[in-house]
Amino acid sequence: MTPLTPAAFLLLLLCLPEAPPAAAAGDPTPTPWPPQFHATMVMDYHGNMSIADLWYDWPGGRNLHVIRYQLADDAPYFDNEWNNGTSFFYTPARRSCRSAAVGVGILRPDWLLPGAVYLGRRDAGGFDCHVWAKADFITYYEDVKTKRPVKWVFYTGRIAYVMNFEVGAVLEDAAWQAPEYCFNKDGGTITEAADGHDDSFIPRNVL
Ligand SMILES: *[C@@H]1O[C@H](CO)[C@@H](O)[C@H](O)[C@H]1NC(C)=O
Ligand SMILES: *[C@@H]1O[C@H](CO)[C@@H](O)[C@H](O)[C@H]1NC(C)=O
Repeated sequence: MTPLTPAAFLLLLLCLPEAPPAAAAGDPTPTPWPPQFHATMVMDYHGNMSIADLWYDWPGGRNLHVIRYQLADDAPYFDNEWNNGTSFFYTPARRSCRSAAVGVGILRPDWLLPGAVYLGRRDAGGFDCHVWAKADFITYYEDVKTKRPVKWVFYTGRIAYVMNFEVGAVLEDAAWQAPEYCFNKDGGTITEAADGHDDSFIPRNVL
């Protein structure tokens, strides 16, 4: 091994803080999401519990989360995201709806890969997992054996436990239709200006 000259060493030091976390050549990479799946999750947001169904439909350009907060009289709450950048958040029991122009499409199946940093293997509820972090935003646990997601920890403190992961499951078209109270009488959507506020399950603007 050639010893570094002091100048080279200084250069190395200067460059280090700029260098992205080195992904070692042999590090495992996250498995892309299947183009279509249905996942059932138990969610814990600082003790606020919910059960969520996630319907991911990449070819359909849509992504639906159906969230039932613990003992909520007005459950479920829908977070309906479309690839053209429009999201609808609605509660049928109250006929309330909010839509937002998020400005970007739904998550790509390989959204986790660019910039993901491998953290190693950890246990998650008895599952031996590969773990990655992305942009101080999510820590992602994937079962080593089956490559299914097991647990997601968000920077906000929200934790999603994947209870069921049905590859290829597709929700029927009718269930994707945002309700009529999301639209103006003239057929337009009641869309708030994008203000950086995003209630999406996985906020798209941070990726
Ligand atoms: C949990 O959070 C949701 C969404 O903010 C809220 O509607 C619900 O009332 C909360 N549940 C409890 C028990 O605080
Ligand atoms: C996005 O697509 C939906 C469904 O086709 C449509 O209702 C909505 O108006 C579209 N939004 C924009 C901004 O084009």
